[in-house]
Amino acid sequence: MADHFTDMNIFLTGFMGSGKSTFGRKLAKQLSLRFYDLDKMVEEKAKCSIEDIFKYLGEDAFRKMESECLHTFEGQENFVLSCGGGTPCYFGNMEFILEQGLCIYLEMDEASLFNRLVHAKNVRPTIKGFTEEELKLFIKDTLAKRREIYERAHLVIPVLNLKPAELKELVENHRKA
Ligand code: S3P
Repeated sequence: MADHFTDMNIFLTGFMGSGKSTFGRKLAKQLSLRFYDLDKMVEEKAKCSIEDIFKYLGEDAFRKMESECLHTFEGQENFVLSCGGGTPCYFGNMEFILEQGLCIYLEMDEASLFNRLVHAKNVRPTIKGFTEEELKLFIKDTLAKRREIYERAHLVIPVLNLKPAELKELVENHRKA
């Protein structure tokens, strides 16, 4: 099967720290699709970092900008978009994503998310300054709220130990099915 896909729009969703950007970039390259990172698009739109948007404008303003950036993909084709962890959970964004392309949930368990986020918690505004216990609780509570939405994805892929080539194969198989 050729590596080049046309008419292919892939939205990667999942909790922060699950590897959406890393997998997204690799998947786009393997399938010769354009790659976009929604967090980066919001930063470009706001002309400041996500951290500063949260700090000076607040989360509501961030969610609004995030949703506006997401909707610029309406009708677009041949891309992989790595969404932010909260993207599908606001303003009915999951409906939009499911309509516009193939939605993939990169699923990771709480303990693995904790291990990945504990080292990066000071660069992520929603978990900045948390103690380890607070972080554990945040992951548990937030995942409990979001899981139902994430699981509406067309493909739910456990991401622990997943290789980029395996993700590509799962996408290709889904497309053939
Ligand atoms: C968020 C996840 C972040 C970013 C923002 C809020 C969330 O994206 O959009 O800090 O609410 O889960 P990543 O999942 O790419 O870290």
